[in-house]
Amino acid sequence: MTTTAHAPLRVALLGGGTVGSQVARILTEDAAVLRDRVGAPLELAGIAVRTPDAPRDWQADPALYTTDAETLVDGADVVIELMGGIEPARTLIRRALEAGIAVVTGNKALLAQHGEELYDLASRTGAQLSFEAAVAGAIPILRPLRDSLAGDRVTRVMGIANGTTNFILDRMDTEGASFEDALAEAQRLGYAEADPSADVGGDDAAAKAAILATLAFGTSYTLDQVSVEGITGITAADNEAATEAGYAIKLLAIAERVTAEDGTAGAILRVHPTLVPRQHPLASVHGAFNAVFVEAENAGELMFYGPGAGGAPTASAVMGDTVAIAQRIVRGGPARLRTPVAALPALAPAEAHTSCLVVLRVADQPGVLRRVAAVFEDHGVSIETLRQVQGADGPGASLRVITHRARQRDLDAVVAALGALDVVHDVVSVLRVEGN
Ligand code: HSE
Repeated sequence: MTTTAHAPLRVALLGGGTVGSQVARILTEDAAVLRDRVGAPLELAGIAVRTPDAPRDWQADPALYTTDAETLVDGADVVIELMGGIEPARTLIRRALEAGIAVVTGNKALLAQHGEELYDLASRTGAQLSFEAAVAGAIPILRPLRDSLAGDRVTRVMGIANGTTNFILDRMDTEGASFEDALAEAQRLGYAEADPSADVGGDDAAAKAAILATLAFGTSYTLDQVSVEGITGITAADNEAATEAGYAIKLLAIAERVTAEDGTAGAILRVHPTLVPRQHPLASVHGAFNAVFVEAENAGELMFYGPGAGGAPTASAVMGDTVAIAQRIVRGGPARLRTPVAALPALAPAEAHTSCLVVLRVADQPGVLRRVAAVFEDHGVSIETLRQVQGADGPGASLRVITHRARQRDLDAVVAALGALDVVHDVVSVLRVEGN
């Protein structure tokens, strides 16, 4: 544990909804870890909400809820705005930035309409403004576009940037679900906006396209510069035709550099249902997951993938911004890479957990399966599948066993014991399985 003399940083949380509740939870439950990372405690000073006693996904100390957002902002070192919508979020963020108070926001609609005004204000007063959570939930995409690719030239960004619509299209594709049932399920799971027409109509993805393009191309774009078509017109027949031709239908937010016929260099921003070849990485993005596929002149093709919606994933991005800002306040710059000596020691590989495919050549006689299975059982390793193939790996029978996840040490002991069984002619191969 790091001891610190720095005073606590007061964090004002504006909004106690799906994401706000999770941010409050993390600030409370992970307070000790956050204090160590930042070098000062992050103190949740209050949560501005419309209705203090409304039920929440996670309940903070009731005394923290207030309707007086302005007083909360005025006393803060960092303001986290998760109210959504334009007002009062815009006025409150302006109030903070004008006073030089750092702001973290996930408000894509506000940034896509009034981003320039807020970026200007922040650079005028020197206040920090971060908004990783505004695009693609937990996926770190804005910082890579702004920082990691700063020495390259991004030519195109294609994003599955709305979890609700990806969830709906995926359910229609893989399960033949109706549009309405899939939307209801997405709403129940907390992916959809309060008014889901912003999701299915494409406006949510369009706001994200404007923000992505702003960071990718270094020019400020607004929502009204994005052409938008949602997924409400997609039918089972469209899906069938796409599948038959080898494509998946995805709602893509696309921002690309284009040269017009008259030679003018510019950018085109568009959101529409798009056929993506099944072998393209974007086609394998299922459920409410998001992915952003970036093409850059020198880097080539990159893909950023992860949960794009939901309380805890989006709160993760909010907290990343909050910690980075707090570190700057405390240390006057980003934290140095720390190398804890004893906190998390490297363990022996035998401690790892993995699944395994074990291929055995065995005698083809009664009782062999029972004896082989007993070896797994004796070591507490559970079998997921077992298949016998005749003569595949030499004379006798071939057994192909896939285990559930188990400790490597136990798997090694299983393999050694199998090799010693008289009915096992040969352990043909042992391969670890991950990602299952
Ligand atoms: N409604 C949005 C989505 C939430 O479905 O992706 C994250 O912006």
